[in-house]
Amino acid sequence: MRLAGKIGIVTAAASGMGRAGALRFAREGAAVAVVDQDDAGAREVVDAIGAAGGRGIAFAGDLRDDAFARDIVARTAREWGGVDFVWNHVGHPGPSAIEGLELADFELAMDLNVRSVLVTTIAALPELRARGGGALLFTASTSGLTGSQFSPVYNVAKFGIVGLVHGLAKRYARENIRVNAVCPGPTDTPMLRVFVARPDSQLPPGETPETLVKKRAGQVPMGRPARPEEVANAALFLLSDEASYITGVALPVDGGATA
Ligand SMILES: NC(=O)c1ccc[n+]([C@@H]2O[C@H](COP(=O)([O-])OP(=O)(O)OC[C@H]3O[C@@H](n4cnc5c(N)ncnc54)[C@H](O)[C@@H]3O)[C@@H](O)[C@H]2O)c1
Repeated sequence: MRLAGKIGIVTAAASGMGRAGALRFAREGAAVAVVDQDDAGAREVVDAIGAAGGRGIAFAGDLRDDAFARDIVARTAREWGGVDFVWNHVGHPGPSAIEGLELADFELAMDLNVRSVLVTTIAALPELRARGGGALLFTASTSGLTGSQFSPVYNVAKFGIVGLVHGLAKRYARENIRVNAVCPGPTDTPMLRVFVARPDSQLPPGETPETLVKKRAGQVPMGRPARPEEVANAALFLLSDEASYITGVALPVDGGATA
């Protein structure tokens, strides 16, 4: 088992890639804190972990609340005696244009993609240090590597996450704390529908979110979106000791889109 004996936290874990990761990490031997605002969804994931013989605990709350984003770390450490890894997966598409931008929409995107992630990370560092090291993983995006004409604010946030990964990787390398990101392209989750359904030219007349998802995925060299499990596989590798000499990496998981 690739995460045997490890204790980890996955945010936005009731759905999509976070859910796939939480289930997979538990199967690989980790005890996993499943964090999400969707209480029933988080508990369903924990039940599935338990049914497969693993260890999970659900923490339900809104990660825009700094106290909650911080406390998930202390609660995990209290439950199992420490923290070895965190997958900061929560994020938000943000508005699709800057003209007509409501600053509240900008702030929501920054709060979820950057602020909450930072708060959780600050809380996690002493816990990882106390264990002699650990792994931090962030979810950026291909929009953290290349521009997206439909996601300028998301670009700001996800390029920021990649920058944070580079800086933290160097700062904490000597403490055996590795810091990496996965950069998914279109991935078949509810959030992909949120991206394409935002109100502007992204959804031309005659298109539905489903037809547009197909069209966008068709533009990926592999011709399809990622399955959430494919991103979870990359996350598993980066969080495991198999990646012991890998830090500061923003790994595209994108079917060749950024090649
Ligand atoms: N799906 C894609 O195509 C895609 C591509 C690149 C990057 N991403 C990134 O992946 C992450 C989202 O992953 P997904 O596609 O697996 O999403 P998803 O839609 O399957 O799940 C998102 C989860 O986040 C939870 N959530 C939302 N707001 C929250 C909050 N304030 N507090 C706590 N939980 C909250 C939701 O309840 C939900 O369970 C984000 O960081 C996103 O930017 C997604």
